[in-house]
Amino acid sequence: MSEACTYVIFGATGNLSRLKLIPALYHLEVANKLPHGTRIVVSGRRSWDLEKCISEVRQWVEERARHQLDEEMFSRFAERISYFQGDLSDDSMWGRLKHYLESLPQNIAFYMSIRPADFSLVVQKLGGVELLQQQHGWRRVVIEKPFGYDLHSACELQQSLTQHLQEEQIYRIDHYLGKSTVQNVLVFRFANTLLEPLWNRNYIEHVQITHSERMGVGSRAAYYDDSGAMRDMIQSHLLQLLTLVAMEPPATMEAESLRDEKVKVLKSVRPINKKSVDAHAFRARYAEGVIDGKEVVSYLHEENVPADSTTETYAALKLYIDNWRWRGVPFYLRTGKRMAERQSMISICFRHPPQQLFRDLGVGPMKQNWIMLGIQPCECLRIEMTVKESGLDMNIRQTSLDASLRGVLQEKIDAYEELLLDVMDGDRALFLRYDEVEYAWRVVDPVIREWQRRDEAVPEYPAGSWGPLESRRLFDKKEQRWRHSIDLEGDDG
Ligand code: BG6
Repeated sequence: MSEACTYVIFGATGNLSRLKLIPALYHLEVANKLPHGTRIVVSGRRSWDLEKCISEVRQWVEERARHQLDEEMFSRFAERISYFQGDLSDDSMWGRLKHYLESLPQNIAFYMSIRPADFSLVVQKLGGVELLQQQHGWRRVVIEKPFGYDLHSACELQQSLTQHLQEEQIYRIDHYLGKSTVQNVLVFRFANTLLEPLWNRNYIEHVQITHSERMGVGSRAAYYDDSGAMRDMIQSHLLQLLTLVAMEPPATMEAESLRDEKVKVLKSVRPINKKSVDAHAFRARYAEGVIDGKEVVSYLHEENVPADSTTETYAALKLYIDNWRWRGVPFYLRTGKRMAERQSMISICFRHPPQQLFRDLGVGPMKQNWIMLGIQPCECLRIEMTVKESGLDMNIRQTSLDASLRGVLQEKIDAYEELLLDVMDGDRALFLRYDEVEYAWRVVDPVIREWQRRDEAVPEYPAGSWGPLESRRLFDKKEQRWRHSIDLEGDDG
């Protein structure tokens, strides 16, 4: 177990902290993973005393804990907590904070659960009072997404951070990498010999990476309307998934080797130029519709969405990776809010066999093999194949080899538990290096700029649907379809 540390959470009274960070730290407590002596500083603007803070924390944990709150564990957890009141824009706060932290463990992780616009300010202030110097213990800064708003602002943010921090002190979070099903992509690929000979342009026809949600924008419009689906999901999570599917085997599983391979994939993505934006990208926005039998409003009628918004809630992107392994294989990425199902999955479609030997036996068109990696809610692996039905006639059908990736008794661990622990352990393998972020922005930037420049109506799809059919214009071949579901019948979009 690592040495004791202090977790300082800025913006600790906000949503991320309530819903994810504090419950994750509590779960780490229950799992006995928090090093002895570790302290948690809940920092926010509200004038709470310790008692009020603990009672709030208790409520957040009760709401999100996997099991009923364990009183003994909670009182152990509560002993680690203290409340530090401060307003980030108040210059006098930083000296006070420095003084406050002197009596706590000197390995300190600062978690930026705050507005992205404040990341740079907070790092400057911490640097200004020498809280980022590592003479008496390590100092690490955890930065939430989005890292920048586009390529230019990401570059500016990076420049500002590096005035006070070394790269190895910066932990850029992409919570998808903390999901155990996402990590399984690497195990599936590199711990099995079966796949590697097939994992290339000779056998794979195309790849789809889908993340769909039934939820709408909810109370997040203030953030989301400036972001949109391309920035919010594709630039970060879906491009990360793409790198894991497409990367070469790393030299080792150490952070730098993994990141080197991921960056190589992003650098090989064929740039999308202005003229080819429509052939490579599609955007849309949800109109009113029905989810779970209830009518829901359109994006434009959500709270805090400006009436003239052109923000997309659905984005699809076709990418080519111009390298030896993948040249010519389209990767289709797609995400949307208020869609028919909540589903994250990677679907790999294989080529037809070189000869259609069964075609003349009246068995009808042969289906392609698929490998489906379910990330959520189904944490599973499915390989679809064609088999003969038993009997005297030559009838074929699709069947699948299915494996569940989580045993019935195994608990679902939230991605933040893994990531918060890795920060304490100094393991950066599941965090992004700056060049990964930069090259991910390079992939989507031309599309975002072109969309912004255009003064055109954004197509709409009814809430509760799979998005507009026009998005199929991205497909290279007319037989290609969106794969909506992990189930056999699902390739119909
Ligand atoms: C976040 C996005 O990063 O990821 C949200 O900002 C999105 O808009 C969420 O809903 C999806 O994450 P998960 O873990 O629920 O799939």
